[in-house]
Amino acid sequence: SLPPKIYTREEVRKHKTVADGVWVTYGRNVFDITEFVELHPGGSRIMLAAGGSLEPFWAMYAVHNQEHVLEILNSYKVGEL
Ligand code: HEM
Repeated sequence: SLPPKIYTREEVRKHKTVADGVWVTYGRNVFDITEFVELHPGGSRIMLAAGGSLEPFWAMYAVHNQEHVLEILNSYKVGEL
């Protein structure tokens, strides 16, 4: 498979609106979740993580600690840090 695209945290931080695209990180992986924002079962709270790390939020909302949630997230992967 092709090598992953590499992004900096600074580049991820620029993507925090639906207009500019909504990117998040989880571990070293980078995701473009723009299309998922309106599908999120937890509503607009998802935007709190826009442009940064999911970890602090997913630590608070353990509902994400399930295989099917990781599968959704992985379907939006665009690269790595
Ligand atoms: C629920 C995905 C980010 C807060 C859910 C569920 C999914 C999901 C699939 C339903 C889980 C289930 O009931 O089986 C995601 C993805 C995220 C994300 C893919 C990021 C890419 C966030 C963030 C927050 C958040 C950043 C909070 C700041 C919640 C809450 C629920 C929820 C509160 C429960 C909603 C309810 O059942 O009433 N999320 N989430 N999520 N999410 Fe997220």
